Order: sequence, then C-alpha cells, then structure tokens
Amino acid sequence: MKTLRQQHDDFHEALEAQGDVSVNPSGNPSLNDVICLRRRGVLKGTLGLAATGFMGGTLAACSSDTGKTAPGFKGVPIQTATDFDTVRVPPGYTARPFFSWGDAVLAQAPAWRTDAGNDWREQLMQAGQNNDGMHFFPFPDNPNRHGLLVVNHEYVNPTLHRDGFEDVDAKRPLAQVRKEQAAHGVSVIEIEKDEAGQWQRVMPSRWNRRISGLTEMEIRGPLAGHGLMKTVADPDGKTVIGTLNNCSMGVTPWGTYLACEENWHDYFVNRDSEDQRVSHRRYGIGEGERADKYAWNTAEPRFDATFDETQAFGGYLQEPHRYGWVVEIDPFDPESTPIKRTAFGRFCRECCTASLGEDGRLAFYSGDDSRGEYLYKFVPEGRHIEGDREHNRHLLDTGTLYVARFDGDGSGVWLPLVHGENGLTEANGFADQGEVLVNARAAADRLGATTMDRPEWVAVDPNSREVYATLTNNHKRGHAHPINAANPRHDNHHGQIIRWREQNADPTATRFTWDLFLLAGEAQGSRDENGQPFPDHLTGTIDGDLFSSPDGLAFDASGRLWIETDYDDRDPLMKNMGCNQLLCADPQSRQVRRFLVGPRGCEITGITFTPDQRTLWVNIQHPKISYPASDGTTRPRSTTVVISRDDGGVVGT
Ligand code: FEO
Ligand code: CA
Ligand code: CA
Ligand code: CA
Repeated sequence: MKTLRQQHDDFHEALEAQGDVSVNPSGNPSLNDVICLRRRGVLKGTLGLAATGFMGGTLAACSSDTGKTAPGFKGVPIQTATDFDTVRVPPGYTARPFFSWGDAVLAQAPAWRTDAGNDWREQLMQAGQNNDGMHFFPFPDNPNRHGLLVVNHEYVNPTLHRDGFEDVDAKRPLAQVRKEQAAHGVSVIEIEKDEAGQWQRVMPSRWNRRISGLTEMEIRGPLAGHGLMKTVADPDGKTVIGTLNNCSMGVTPWGTYLACEENWHDYFVNRDSEDQRVSHRRYGIGEGERADKYAWNTAEPRFDATFDETQAFGGYLQEPHRYGWVVEIDPFDPESTPIKRTAFGRFCRECCTASLGEDGRLAFYSGDDSRGEYLYKFVPEGRHIEGDREHNRHLLDTGTLYVARFDGDGSGVWLPLVHGENGLTEANGFADQGEVLVNARAAADRLGATTMDRPEWVAVDPNSREVYATLTNNHKRGHAHPINAANPRHDNHHGQIIRWREQNADPTATRFTWDLFLLAGEAQGSRDENGQPFPDHLTGTIDGDLFSSPDGLAFDASGRLWIETDYDDRDPLMKNMGCNQLLCADPQSRQVRRFLVGPRGCEITGITFTPDQRTLWVNIQHPKISYPASDGTTRPRSTTVVISRDDGGVVGT
C-alpha cells in the first residue's frame, strides 16, 4: 500500500496533469490568429520583449502616475532545498500560521486530531482543506482591528483521512465521502486584534459559519426553475445541495462574498459513451479518464449524471448543470442562504473580480481555468447605488455575459453571449438564454473568443482601472490551440500576465486595448546548467525576481500588484524558481520583487489586506511536508498565514 506521502504526491501530480486535459475542441482559427501568427514571425527572437512593449506606451500613458507603487522591502531569495518547510518573508516582517485545516470554526467543534480521526460531523464545524481565495470584511466601526475573514476550501487531499482515500476504484465508504464534502466550501470567521496587536480568532461568534458541499443553496437568475436545472430530487430546479471546488473569489461593492465554482466536473461521471451532450462533454464530464476523481458517485447517486430513463428528468442527468456558477454569500448575515447566480454563465470559474465605474455601472471578470478556455465578464443591467443594499442585492440576476477576443493589433472586443445574436440560435443548439448560459463555453466557441493559456485570477488597478489577469501556463499551446498574440509562446510552461484597458476606463465597455504586462520564465540572456541559452519559449520578460506560473493576483489599495505562483516545484524546468512564491510588482515600472517563499510542495494562493494595509493574509495550500504542524511530524495542513511588519508599517513599502 502506498504511504500517505506518496498518495499526496501522486494526487497532486494527477491534479497538475488534469489541468492539462483540454476539452475545448475549438482552435478558433480566425483572421486574428492569422494576424497573430504573422506577428509572431516578425517578433521571433525578441518575442517576449516586443510583445510586452506592444501597446505598452499607450497603456502606461493612461496609467495614473502615483509613483508610490514600487516595492520597498528587501527581496527574499529563492528556496531550492527539498526539505524547505517554512514561510520566509523579508527582514522586518513576521509571518505566523493563523487558520489551518481542522481548526475550530464553530465554538462546539472538537479539537483537530493529528491522525485525521475527526469524523464528517466534526469536520463540518472545523476549517476545510486547501484554503484558496479569501477576503477580509472589516467592521465599519473598527475596520483595521475587527472583521470577518472569509476563506474558500477548494478541494480535498488524501491527508483528509487517516490512511488516505479508501476504495477509489470500488465503492467509496459514505463516511469518507461525507467528510470530503464537509471539508469543501467556505469558512466565515470573526477575527480581532488583541491588546498586544496580535490577530486572534473570536470564539464563540454569531458570525462564525461553515458553508460546505452539504449546505442548501438557492438557484437564482435566468436558470432558476429552468428545465435544464431539474433533477429527480429537485423537480423545481431551484435548490441545490452544496458548492464545490471554490477557488479564487470576488467581492461585491455592497459587501458580499462571491465564491466561484472551478473544477466541479471532477465530482461527476457520465457512463454512457454514446451521450455526447455538450453540457457534459464540453466540460470534461464523461467516463474513463474523464471520470470523477473522487468516485463520489459510488456512494451517492447524485454524482452519477448518466441518463436514467426510469427516473424523472433522467435522474441526476442535469445535476452537473447546477455547478460552475457564482455563489453569493452574505458574511454579515449568518442565517442567509447562499445564492447561485446563474446570469454569470457556467464554466470552470476561477474568480469573479468586480470593477466599479464612477457612475455605479460595474463589471465582474472571470477566468475559466482550463487549457485553451476563455476570459469572461458579466455586466449587470442595473447600477450599484452606494448604501442601498436592498437595491444592490438584486443586481446580479440580470445582465449581459461577454467573452473576450484579443486581436493581434492590441485591440480587443467583448463578445456578448446573448441568445438569438451571432448564431446563438435554436438551429445551432441554443434554444434560449438558459441554454447559452449553461453551455457558455460552446457559445463562446461559436463567437470566436480567444483561447487562453489557463486564465486564473483577475485584478483591477485601483488607480487606473486597468485590468490584469494571470494566464498561468499551457505547455500544450501551439498544439490543440494555435499560438495567438495574447498567448504567444508554444509549450508555455511559465505563463504570462495580460492586462487591458476598457474604452474610456468604463467597466461596461465592449472594446478595449491590451498588452502583455510580463511573460514569466527564465531571465533574458541567461543560460541553463549546460551553458546553453534557454529557448525562447522558456524565456520571460521579468524585470526582477524570477517566477513561473502566476495564479493568485491582487492589487493593494495603493496600487501595488501582488502575484502568487502555482507550479510543480519538483519539475526540473522550475530549478531556477525554487519553492512557490508571493511577489510584488510595480505596475508603472514593471519591477518585480519576491516577498515570500512558501514550504516545499505548496502553492501560494488567496490574498487579502486590512484597509490600512498593515496586515496581509495569504494561504499556503497543499504543503508537502509538515507545515505548520507544531510537532513537525504530523500531516501537513493548508494554512492561512497572517503577515505584518514588526514596526507596524504598511506591508510592501
Ligand atoms: Fe483552483 Fe485554477 O486554480
Ligand atoms: Ca488558482
Ligand atoms: Ca493554478
Ligand atoms: Ca490549486
């Protein structure tokens, strides 16, 4: 039998490989690609620099020149030791484990057991695994010392159980499946600074709450009660059990949290190989290697989406339609039912980042993190009215979903996914707007959207309203999906950060200009261990500290750009990157400096600040060794880390 460590490593290797499963059959070779390919020919040799410089002047000229966004700390060196098992931050800073898998959320939760012996009911009161997106919601009367920290629990590792996952190839024990469901979702925890200025969790608290894969939620928006949402257990199509695979997130201007459902297809199976329905196949739901990796269907029929003619609505045929949405959670109302907002469209949604215009019109940006998928934005029909919560809470049910096309000349277009327009018609398989939203990927294929190198987080510059997105990597670019100007490297192992500026800085505009902020990877002109220059496709344009595979991305209130990485630190190609990192970049000068290095095997994800920027929280997800177990030997735990400057100053300056 494999050791737990081996199971953990194999599981993460499989996750990495699975991020590579492309289900986008559309190469979308359009006039744009032809232009882009031509450009690539022209740019050969100095590809990265030229691509980054392209349109850069225009964008830089538009940016506000606050001149205050340069990183001011001493950079942290890369860590290459295979047993590196801590978090390193710059001199003068302290990082401290704050909230780990198994920590009590509800006051009656039992202590976490180092042998993972807590059962599923106990897990429901404790922090879930794999902390990812998160946000600090301050209390208005004491915003820098008191608030609610909301943290996603994206998925589960074999470490959840004492001896790992049992019977993944046979019938899973229901008790294990329940614990896995309970360890997903979101934690809301009240936190407060004590007299000594240390952040503490408040217990008990009327706000502390676990939302999980077992929490009942309401379906709202165009798909509420739609025929595509009905199952044998929910003939009304309005109620769903649980949210799954919540990765990055979003925050509304009215103070609610938007959990996003990313790799939800991992939980479903469709055993009928003849069934080629787009709403399953285009999302990677099938059998064989596309089957659910947790085999929940063997313990709970709801996760078997094979058509069952003996049951109403085909049994659970449509259950997968009920995932892939935005889940709005009001952290300040612990009694509120989470709401799945369907106007946002259905895909593997990494994030949902808001941009608010001066007149109250707003947009939400989302990446669909799979190889060759798209960047989307949702524009609510109504406007945000400051202070009018009753009005604002209905804004997310009506609006227009767009998908991005990045043209080779540095311009771009938001293409509307609207039924009846541009071929999104019944004749082409889109009977109504519900069908367009459930099959957003297929609708975007038809519109000729630009296939991207796995879009992860999106961040909006508070000074310029420019929008930045991480395209984490796509080592098969140039194969299934042709190279284009926005995704300019074949076999793209290191990823890039793209940015765009909406016309007139209006979040709702349908046209924009764009450039590549940077290409991650090896330094220009550097050589590998054999003294050979790195090939173009592995060479980046970073001015400063090296990294690969940007994933988490956020601006602080001053406008510094924070970049979190997620690469396989065992991959020989990552030799010069070391363990995963958090970096800080100046959007003006593009200088990049490494702020934090995490323990071996982890990814760095989730990022949030207090309003005064004197406290920073980040997540250490799936560390490999023992971090942060106090005895140094028990199983590793994903952990939220709190970071501050020893002199109490603003983080990053
Ligand atoms: Fe869950 Fe795309 O990261
Ligand atoms: Ca991510
Ligand atoms: Ca990632
Ligand atoms: Ca991850």
